[in-house]
Amino acid sequence: MLSRIDHIGIAVRDLDAAIQVYERRLGLQVSGRERLESEGIEIAMIAIGESRIELITPLNSDSKVEKFLQERGEAVHHVAYATENVGASLQRAAIGGAQLLDGAARPGAHGTQIGFVHPKSVCGVLTEFVQADGETGA
Ligand code: CO
Repeated sequence: MLSRIDHIGIAVRDLDAAIQVYERRLGLQVSGRERLESEGIEIAMIAIGESRIELITPLNSDSKVEKFLQERGEAVHHVAYATENVGASLQRAAIGGAQLLDGAARPGAHGTQIGFVHPKSVCGVLTEFVQADGETGA
């Protein structure tokens, strides 16, 4: 059901500085920036092959990403897997014994559907399922 790594999320303190790191040191190109007010974050996406890097920075002190940065510093924040059906992937994870952070699919950026699994259930890694815009989720 999971077909590929859709993106890897990396928590950063300063989005402009992080973009410069990825562009200057790795020669990658940022394809878009977006403020997700409801999540309390701003993100920058970097396309790399069929996958992406998602740089994430908190917009306020209430953001979960702010808490993450205080505890862990800048680091890999989550791994996101592409799926045809977020709800079914969450259900499968739950049947397999995972603790879900989302009981059902919810809207993400750019018309996607997303859902998260608690990091303690996946070897310490916050895990996201992403269903691209236009995929039916049969
Ligand atoms: Co993500």
